[in-house]
Amino acid sequence: MLTLGIETSCDETSASVVYAGESIRSNIILSQADHSKFGGVVPELASRAHVRNIIPIYKQALEEAQCQLEDIELISATMGPGLVGALLVGLSFAKGLAFATGKPFVPVHHIEGHLSANLLSHPELHPHHLTLIVSGGHTMLVEVKAFGEYRTIGQTKDDAAGEAFDKIAKLLGLGYPGGAQIDKLAKQGDPNFYKFPRPIIKDQSYQFSFSGLKTAVVLYVDKITEKEKSDSLPHICASFQEAVVDVLASKTVRAADELGVSHITLSGGVAANSRLRTVLSDRLKAKGKKLFYPEMSLCTDNAAMIASAGYYRYKKEGPGNLIANAFPYLPLEQIESEEKDT
Ligand SMILES: Nc1ncnc2c1ncn2[C@@H]1O[C@H](COP(=O)(O)OP(=O)(O)OP(=O)(O)O)[C@@H](O)[C@H]1O
Ligand SMILES: [Mg+2]
Repeated sequence: MLTLGIETSCDETSASVVYAGESIRSNIILSQADHSKFGGVVPELASRAHVRNIIPIYKQALEEAQCQLEDIELISATMGPGLVGALLVGLSFAKGLAFATGKPFVPVHHIEGHLSANLLSHPELHPHHLTLIVSGGHTMLVEVKAFGEYRTIGQTKDDAAGEAFDKIAKLLGLGYPGGAQIDKLAKQGDPNFYKFPRPIIKDQSYQFSFSGLKTAVVLYVDKITEKEKSDSLPHICASFQEAVVDVLASKTVRAADELGVSHITLSGGVAANSRLRTVLSDRLKAKGKKLFYPEMSLCTDNAAMIASAGYYRYKKEGPGNLIANAFPYLPLEQIESEEKDT
């Protein structure tokens, strides 16, 4: 089944054609550059850029997949969570296409999309696994019993991991979004240069908190001179990153042990982080467990993961409703009830 996926939940306009949920025929991603000068995404600018770009990006996705609209058998688009104005552009476009052509339509939860990026990269993944979702807006540990059956066992009380990376990058003058930049600089730095706090690493819950760590970095940077800051930039990046990675990895390994699962995945933009991949992979390997993560281009927002999730949703429960709405806030466990209600 050839599926068209559309993703516009934040500042990426993306369209993709995927065969049978796992074979990518095209995955066009346009990252809007206009937001960096504002230090964050400006929702209204994002919506307008999606309106300008959605049709050319969709056409490019069909062209690269060497197919026509007639060949598409299923249409899927992100319904939330995300910026509501941005979501509405992709969702309305996809629903319009489905209505005009009579093709089935499936609305997709953005986080289920991030989870499905692992299905695109690793078809051998065990259906029952644990996933650490680390993105710009989420930090969650979720037990995946099978596709669509989720149990959240912990999440952040304040900032998401990606948000913490972005805020520290901004503080250090590395631009927005800065997670990848911190990762790059940290490679030349000493992770033990400064011991930043590991928030709630020892408590027995699977909750996370990054705002205290962020404050600790702010206070540290306030105390040093501009010269010291620029001289030790790679070390500050490496030390901050190490604290985030240590907390994420510790809790994930403990949860994997408790659940008795041997397959663990990373999902979301921060899954691209090289130190997180290495540390978590090594710690899990020592326990006889295996870490999976999506290939680089599928970690951050893209429509291939939406097409894949749409395909598996369709196989599970058939077409969704064409009056599906956009949701800025949408818990993962709520997907099915929202789809049925709309
Ligand atoms: N190599 C990296 N190391 C750390 N963080 C990274 C890296 N690459 C990307 N990120 C971070 O990933 C985030 C973007 O991920 P993603 O696209 O999944 O977030 P989002 O879509 O904005 O949020 P959500 O998926 O929660 O709605 C940004 O915060 C970015 O800094
Ligand atoms: Mg995302």
